[in-house]
Amino acid sequence: MVKIKAAAIVLAAGQGKRMKSALPKVLHPLAGKTMLSHVLALVKGLTLSPAFVIVGHQAEAVAKAAKEHNIETRLQNPPRGTGDAVLQAKADLRHFRGPVLILNGDTPLLREKTIRGLLNTHRKQGATLSLLTVKLADPGAYGRVIRREDGSIDRVVEYRDANAAERKVNEINTGVYICESTFLFKALDQVQPNNEQGEFYLTDIIGIASREGEKLVGLEADPEEVIGINSRADLALAEAAFQSRIHRAWMEKGVTLVDPSRIRIDAEVKIGAGSILHPGVSLEGTSKIGEAVMIYASRIKDSRIGKGVTIKDFCVIEDADIESGAVVGPFAHLRPGSVLRKGAKVGNFVEMKKSELGEGSKAGHLSYLGDATIGKRVNIGAGTITCNYDGHNKDRTIVEDDVFIGSDSQLIAPVKVGRGALIAAGTTVTKDVPRDALAISRIPQDNKAEWAKRRRNQKKKKK
Ligand code: UD1
Ligand code: CA
Repeated sequence: MVKIKAAAIVLAAGQGKRMKSALPKVLHPLAGKTMLSHVLALVKGLTLSPAFVIVGHQAEAVAKAAKEHNIETRLQNPPRGTGDAVLQAKADLRHFRGPVLILNGDTPLLREKTIRGLLNTHRKQGATLSLLTVKLADPGAYGRVIRREDGSIDRVVEYRDANAAERKVNEINTGVYICESTFLFKALDQVQPNNEQGEFYLTDIIGIASREGEKLVGLEADPEEVIGINSRADLALAEAAFQSRIHRAWMEKGVTLVDPSRIRIDAEVKIGAGSILHPGVSLEGTSKIGEAVMIYASRIKDSRIGKGVTIKDFCVIEDADIESGAVVGPFAHLRPGSVLRKGAKVGNFVEMKKSELGEGSKAGHLSYLGDATIGKRVNIGAGTITCNYDGHNKDRTIVEDDVFIGSDSQLIAPVKVGRGALIAAGTTVTKDVPRDALAISRIPQDNKAEWAKRRRNQKKKKK
């Protein structure tokens, strides 16, 4: 990709009052990443430099997010409007000559291609100021783009400051601008806070450019891309738009989505061709799904799922590694550090944590496997529990290859069951079991002849 010579400023100092949230608006997640990180990934992708994020409200938290993308921050304290926000980078751009891309931190659906298009138009037309606009059937509370009779842009008026006629205009300001640095800071020095909110509006520079006869260009964008998120309703709308974008991309790559509207896939997730996702699937974080994987209604987060794996319904899988051909669920809970080797099976109501189930091994029903290393071809009977925690320490259970563990057994860690051993059903294993041995710990059964019948008869007599 060609490196573009432009600076970038991302505005992220506002509180986002309309979200009614303790979390700064730009840190709300969309497809598993914060809004801000979507915008910063765009800035990084365009290799814009220098680039700054303007922070203010909960500056520390927002700055931390910016740092993850190696983008510098400047503090706006207190936030007094979008124009005042841009001014916080004035000193840094003192010697910079050229176009500055300005983005709001709350428009995470913008595509790189669109910004490249705007930069190209800006350059080709020799513009001083270019802005991305969009025509909306319902222009809501966005700033309106007011044009003169000849079609040229006159100014942008905020919804709150607009009169009835202006509010009827359906072309809106998306908050994406490219402005020549010299004009930008000169114009911003003229901006006054005489508007309904008493803020310094960045949008006022559009009217200034027009009055001063500077070349102004408006480029129309795809409405979906420029959704500005101000409320939780906007966030839900944006999530839906983002999801359908992600869905389309995976379907094009050969993944079947059965009723996509009920499937969630985070932005960073990878899925192999030939996989089939059923309704109710949620693939989250950095999960990597292999080829030909079948997944029913389940939540999978930050996990690696191998080729040909089947995940049946209602499983919660987090930070787990599942190798090819394994079968999981229904109703399994694989907590962080769970590893299923090739062809292993975990059935209903089995919980695993920091445990490995070896190749071809099975834990079919009602088990807890915590801090356990289980070898190959092991059968874990129904109701087997690793007792890994004594209230102070956590200890490991080791089960070697070809062991058979009968139902309702407890393995009190630290303990080791040697290769080929057999644990009788109902056994409480408190000491190591040697190779090929049978371990059995039960109170011998005592059958009292006719006992039940006698009790029945006694009861009858009382009546
Ligand atoms: C802004 C535009 C509006 C446009 C809309 C597009 C202005 C005055 N209005 O309105 O014309 O239609 O975006 O989505 O610019 N911010 C700061 N410091 C501040 C105030 C805001 O950094 O002092 C940041 C916010 O964190 C946010 C962005 O600037 O990321 C936009 O602020 P917001 O309050 O959402 O502006 P809108 O009312 O949506
Ligand atoms: Ca906004």
